[in-house]
Amino acid sequence: MTRRLITAALPYANGPIHIGHLVEYVQADIQARFMRSMGHEVLYVCADDTHGTPIEISAMKQGITPDELVARTWEQHHADFRAFGMSFDVYYTTNSPENRALAGHIYEALKQRGVITRRATEQMYSESLGRFLNDRMIKGTCPFCGAADQYGDVCESCGKTYKPTDLLNPYDAITGETPVLRTTENIYVRLTDFVDLLRAWSADAIPQDGVRNFIETWFTTGLEDWCISRDAPYFGFEIPGEPGKFFYVWLDAPVGYIASTSRWCQDNGQTWEQWWGPDADTHITHVIGKDIVYFHTLFWPAMLHAAGLKMPDHIQVHGMLTLNNEKMSKSRGTLIKARTWLDHLDPEYLRFYYAAKLGDDITDFDLNLNDFHMKVNAELINNLVNLTNRVLKFLESRFAGDPGPLDVDHPLVATVQESVARIQAEYAAWNYRAAVRAITELGSVINTFFQDQAPWALIKDDPEAAHRVCALALHGATAIMAALAPITPELVARFSQCVGVERIGWQHAGTAWRPASVHAQLRLLDRIDPQHVQNILEQSMSEATPTPPATPPHAIEADDFKPEVTYDDFAKLDLRVGVVEEVERVPKADKLLRLTVHCGKRINIFAGVAKAYEDPAVLLGKRVLVLANLQPRKMRFGLSEGMLLAVAGPNDEGLELVNLPPTALGGWSVS
Ligand code: 2FM
Ligand code: ZN
Repeated sequence: MTRRLITAALPYANGPIHIGHLVEYVQADIQARFMRSMGHEVLYVCADDTHGTPIEISAMKQGITPDELVARTWEQHHADFRAFGMSFDVYYTTNSPENRALAGHIYEALKQRGVITRRATEQMYSESLGRFLNDRMIKGTCPFCGAADQYGDVCESCGKTYKPTDLLNPYDAITGETPVLRTTENIYVRLTDFVDLLRAWSADAIPQDGVRNFIETWFTTGLEDWCISRDAPYFGFEIPGEPGKFFYVWLDAPVGYIASTSRWCQDNGQTWEQWWGPDADTHITHVIGKDIVYFHTLFWPAMLHAAGLKMPDHIQVHGMLTLNNEKMSKSRGTLIKARTWLDHLDPEYLRFYYAAKLGDDITDFDLNLNDFHMKVNAELINNLVNLTNRVLKFLESRFAGDPGPLDVDHPLVATVQESVARIQAEYAAWNYRAAVRAITELGSVINTFFQDQAPWALIKDDPEAAHRVCALALHGATAIMAALAPITPELVARFSQCVGVERIGWQHAGTAWRPASVHAQLRLLDRIDPQHVQNILEQSMSEATPTPPATPPHAIEADDFKPEVTYDDFAKLDLRVGVVEEVERVPKADKLLRLTVHCGKRINIFAGVAKAYEDPAVLLGKRVLVLANLQPRKMRFGLSEGMLLAVAGPNDEGLELVNLPPTALGGWSVS
């Protein structure tokens, strides 16, 4: 039997998992679970995508190293995915020795094939940062519509794309300074060499018409060479034999699929070549969003082919999620984090809703929160879960848990078997929307049957007939649970306990299997309380971080400044790096934090910044700026032996302790 390898796109390691990401992980997870349920050997592979400038900048902003950020984010992503029921066989990282070796190996293969070229180009360079600036590090005025403050690749106002060098009045998005143009040599892959190969490959590997049409337009307009190098400093892998040049993140990211497979293979007595080698008897599917089709249908298969490896068998593309018909926005708080969801609602509701919406097309789809709770309550809870509960309870209370004799010739059994075959076909075709429709239709049929036969009335005159009705209804409910298992595995695990098996699967949906006994002690799944949905949105909005403007809205007047001091005045201040060793809130003083800070000596400080830190523990280990020779002051709560410097706008807006780089050591002087 062919072995199945499924991947979902590797999330960047610089932000939390949110409900937009989850569409894809749920889609791929349902397929992985479905294939396992059909008896295939499945490897569901994922990892964090850890390299590139945004991750480096994000670490810098948080005052930690990129390695620390990557390690921290991995823990969060892994925990979120586990809570949402992702059945990854391996969740790895692209920042791994396996990935470094494989990226180098593929690069060598590209060189051997003679498809690597070099070219000098002019790029924007920041003299004060000492680095080239990528598209997202440059802003300026759109050359098409004149909109100010646009990034170097695309204008958010008119939607046109351009090169960073086309921007008018460009400035460095970090320092605000004007960049200069500098020449550098870059390394490219000549993609045109692969056009015939890719065209032939895509005919089979890309079954979705919409996606194939996209690619055909790219072939027709001609493929440009792909730049795979970035100049130091860059967080990533240095290119072998090219000091100071690093692989662009999009080169080593997909290689992470193989590196993660390799990690799993090392732990399971296999080799990655058994999955990715040219003769591997495997079927490889990449599940991706429509925003990254280019990378997965051009660069990646070309790289694999050049390296003599197996090209993907199937690229499955999905559309993007909107929330209440609007693009989700971090600054407005509508990009709901997986964590926020988990604080209020069972993840299986979302898995069900996504499944009920996902088809085999690439159209965007909407999470309408009102529709969400009504649909889940009506279709999953009222129709499917309540039916199952009622049947279990009736069998337990009236027949001591005896499941009763199944009349295999009853037409309802044939209906169940037909439904099961239809549901399996829809899952296999990635048409989960149709699978859910077939499951709910089966639920309606069994509900109508149970209601019409009314075993609670029948039992008075003909208990055996009532028992037969319940046995048939239980057969239907079991098939429904087997069918729901890829979507709502936890619900189905609870049902499995009620019928005394470890995990309900398709084998239990046939007529040959009967439970020994049933019981109904466990709550299967409750209705959604709409208030909880509201709470998710409110919490998300309260956590939103509106992007602050670079300069204050009101000019700072000359008389806002304090009178001049002499150098000697300044030199009296003993400013030092302090490392926060302890931090706690001060009871009955809601503005104050008490900190133990090591600034060469260990001192106790009360700082009026509590409002700025929902969780003060984030300050532990931070490098703060300490005035170490301030006269100690006796306060109501204890002695304050120094002062921490903080930034704030009017009315404490944006209040935050000054955060020094993690490379600074406690006790170093600041001057
Ligand atoms: O677009 C993204 O979020 C990328 N991190 C996806 C990488 S997928 C794969 F190629 F690694
Ligand atoms: Zn524009």
